[in-house]
Amino acid sequence: MNGPIGIFDSGYGGLTVLSEIKSLLPQYDYIYLGDNARAPYGNRSFEIVYKFTKDAVNWFFKQNCHLVILACNTASAKALRSIQQIDLPRMNPTKRVLGVIRPTVESVAGFTKTGHIGLFGTSGTIKSQSYDMEIAKLYPHLTVSGEACPMWVPLVENNEFDKPGADYFIKQHIDNLLEKDDQIDTIILGCTHYPLLINKIKKFLPKNIQVISQGKYVAGSLKDYLLRHPEMENKCSKNGTVKYFTTDLPEKFTDMASLFLKENIEAQRINID
Ligand code: DGL
Repeated sequence: MNGPIGIFDSGYGGLTVLSEIKSLLPQYDYIYLGDNARAPYGNRSFEIVYKFTKDAVNWFFKQNCHLVILACNTASAKALRSIQQIDLPRMNPTKRVLGVIRPTVESVAGFTKTGHIGLFGTSGTIKSQSYDMEIAKLYPHLTVSGEACPMWVPLVENNEFDKPGADYFIKQHIDNLLEKDDQIDTIILGCTHYPLLINKIKKFLPKNIQVISQGKYVAGSLKDYLLRHPEMENKCSKNGTVKYFTTDLPEKFTDMASLFLKENIEAQRINID
């Protein structure tokens, strides 16, 4: 039976990816799941992020999703490879789980002139060095410097992202990153929550530095994937619907998601562990 495409994040951040995917590929059905009850994932151990992400993937498969996008860098960095290599062959070898790191990395070479890339991410993403490894594979001539920003996700999850108090935490990490490498001319926002902080980031970033928000590239890469895999494309239902699920209070999710997406949505609460 055909089914929706699953989009997963620890919380609200994946909505920045969903909204790009929806606008590029409006014909498909989508299910979004935010694991808000257990967010943030960014400071958690490999084992925990892997377990939480597997819980989510299992749930998506039960909802009849054939394709799941981990719209979360932390889950992509810590759980994607194990899920693809160990779990999928056992759970269901015909289903697919894709991440956000590879499509983002593929886009960077077109931006930088100095060859010096900066990366903002959660502690988990930065420590995993997934971006560094992926960039070294695809573009060995590029230099990457990473900066973990552990307060940025809580600013978004708690709706403090546009408030004056956020300035301190944003500026601090921009300064730290540019101290590590002053030739950086391109910065990857390696966390799907961070596009919501873009106004503040731009406020403190020198104007000559470009910022890459990954939603657009993940959407483009999904489009390309579906073109190259007609057997998967055929299994994706096409009624243009989106359903929203959260593991915490649906009222809060509904309010926050409507704010981020600039449209009114309704969320349902589910339990995945
Ligand atoms: N939005 C996520 C990411 O891209 C997760 C952030 C978190 O839960 O700490 O990494």
